Amino acid sequence: MDKLSQITTGKAKSLFSTAHPDQLIMEFRDDTSAFDGKKMEALDNKGNVNNQFNAFVMEFLATKGIETHFIELLSSNESLVKKLDMFPIECVVRNRATGSLCKRLGIEDGLILDPPLFEFFLKDDALGDPLINDHHIVSFGWASQEEADTMRELTLQANDILVNFFSEANLILVDYKLEFGMFQGKMLLADEFTPDGCRLWDKDTLAKMDKDRFRQDLGNVIETYSEVAERLGMQIKLD
Ligand code: C5P
Repeated sequence: MDKLSQITTGKAKSLFSTAHPDQLIMEFRDDTSAFDGKKMEALDNKGNVNNQFNAFVMEFLATKGIETHFIELLSSNESLVKKLDMFPIECVVRNRATGSLCKRLGIEDGLILDPPLFEFFLKDDALGDPLINDHHIVSFGWASQEEADTMRELTLQANDILVNFFSEANLILVDYKLEFGMFQGKMLLADEFTPDGCRLWDKDTLAKMDKDRFRQDLGNVIETYSEVAERLGMQIKLD
């Protein structure tokens, strides 16, 4: 399948149309951004690592009953995906308090959240992706109540699966963000699941093994992503 024209380009990925009207090519670039694009850098091999990492996690989730937009890997940094009608919403689950939650509510960093905390955010860079709730979603028509409920259920269902998945690699799944879209009347998990969109801490040392290494200038970003991939049993191909 060849790329036809570029449909959108985000901070780390670009989407291209294909000869198939229901399928897109998602290209993972080396570009890395944080703080709504204020910090940007290209990191060698990030596109390759994240594309293959995402494929592995999406395929794993599909085996556990979470349907996703992922179809197949096309190259080291490209995947074929279904073309969805996306919700402008980010679904976040937190198993430990850190990041924006601690800033917003003055919560102690690392606090275990039981039950896990679920939050909706509006996907809008210009507004800094504000926290929203079901009422905003329904009143502004970003999704129906039923769709919001399904997004929350699927995100929490994925949490049960992924907490164990990462635990077996001696990692704590601290938090993560998912996005959903509709395909032929069905809600599917979209976008990506990579260390760019989640927080992973080593169980023994609590070392950060995710994009906080980039955000906080901790170094060895791609080496660490690769170590996570290796611990999970992935064999990443680099160009
Ligand atoms: O920034 P915050 O602490 O709210 O992030 C919660 C989780 O969601 C983190 O794992 C972060 O990487 C992810 N996230 C994301 N994209 C955003 C906002 C948050 O991947 N736009």
